Amino acid sequence: MKRPVNLSRREFVKKNSLAGIGAAVALSAGPTILAECSADAGVPAVLGGEKIRTKPWPSWPEWDQAADEELVLKTLRSGIWSRAKVVEEFERKWAETIGSKRCLAVVNGTNSLITALVQAGIGGGDEVIIPPYTFIATAIAVLQTGAIPVFVDTDPETYQIDARKIEAKITPRTRAIMPVHLFGFPADMTRIMAIAKKHNLIVIEDACQAWLAEINHKKVGTFGLAGCFSFQNSKNIPIGECGAIVSDDDEYMDRCYSYHNYGNPYGTVIGEVGAGTVMAGTKLRITEYQAAIGLAQLKRLDAQTTIRHKSAEYLKSRIGRIPGILTYKLNPGVTRVSYHIFPFRYRKQEFRGLSREQFIRALEAEGIPSWGGYTPLNKMPYLKNAFLSKNFKLMYQPEMLDYDKYMERNQCPLNDQLCEEAVWLMQNILLGDRSDMDDIANAIERIHKNAEKIKNALS
Ligand SMILES: Cc1ncc(COP(=O)(O)O)c(C=O)c1O
Repeated sequence: MKRPVNLSRREFVKKNSLAGIGAAVALSAGPTILAECSADAGVPAVLGGEKIRTKPWPSWPEWDQAADEELVLKTLRSGIWSRAKVVEEFERKWAETIGSKRCLAVVNGTNSLITALVQAGIGGGDEVIIPPYTFIATAIAVLQTGAIPVFVDTDPETYQIDARKIEAKITPRTRAIMPVHLFGFPADMTRIMAIAKKHNLIVIEDACQAWLAEINHKKVGTFGLAGCFSFQNSKNIPIGECGAIVSDDDEYMDRCYSYHNYGNPYGTVIGEVGAGTVMAGTKLRITEYQAAIGLAQLKRLDAQTTIRHKSAEYLKSRIGRIPGILTYKLNPGVTRVSYHIFPFRYRKQEFRGLSREQFIRALEAEGIPSWGGYTPLNKMPYLKNAFLSKNFKLMYQPEMLDYDKYMERNQCPLNDQLCEEAVWLMQNILLGDRSDMDDIANAIERIHKNAEKIKNALS
């Protein structure tokens, strides 16, 4: 069955994990020579030939009954379900893992971003610089604070914000840069931190896809004032729903804590003695059993990241040889990548004009789940609707809400092109072995060799 190109990651993972139930994650490297030679063989599956890939892919999320259930059951049976010691332990372990002084767990990645921004003092009248190639949560988090997102074009080779273009977008209203380490490929933090220092800007890192990613062995999420993570179900460390903020700044983290707990006093957020709640906070606390699941998942993260790394590097080396397949580049100094997604760019000119949608359909038919990923975030209706909202009209002068001017200023042509060319493979696929990666490369090679026939049949 054909899956729409822009099926959301969550739907994809749901579907993919069902297809993969019972699949074992083979960790050993298989023979590759034979596999590499099989690319020519046979009629493409989309034209009625045999699929290259018939085995299920590693399922997601993983759960080891024997190893993982003890703490969850103990937590359940304790009757202490609201935030307490297990959440604290998860926070301690995540801070330690990332190399940060403090961590606060919150209900999801989106709210980790909102909390981090609001407690950094971002609000109405401010501009926050973000990339347009990211999940919608990055942009709506900025709008939720009352600030306006300003988009800087993507570097299509790294898929990250093009740090060389940030300074041109800075205005007197710019208060923060929120780089996203998309797919767990680190953004160019060396350059971004230098720009932030020069212009006195706050940096909040959206590391919601970047668990354990590093630049010069320093984990992303620790470069700016705060780093934000997501542990939603498709993520490399899945809890169902959960998020976290890390920072070395105690006072800031006390404010984040207070905000996530109705605005009640916490640590240095003491307010007047006996005066009660000190800020208009909200409630973002996670439960004890979410934290218990997180502690179990955390044990696998490092080893799985190493496997994804190996698979990605091998797959990149194989598909990089196929004309019309453009592989990614990493920013300078990157020492580790999370590989939440394995992306490549597809050039239809080298595939006899076979469109990306047709290519994805053919790849799917070969048993390789893939899709086209994001559409441009700087062109969606939520922006105009925010400008038309009551709150924005109260916060901004009419000329600041000139939507046409805003759109003009926020053109990101390279990102537009990237959104047309990208093809994504999900992280769980990278948990396979070399022969699994060969299946992917062989499928792409087969499509390349038969592109003309496929195009004629599908057009
Ligand atoms: C880059 C990015 N930012 C923010 C989020 C929001 O995280 P959550 O879904 O946990 O709210 C996500 C999650 O998909 C993401 O990928």
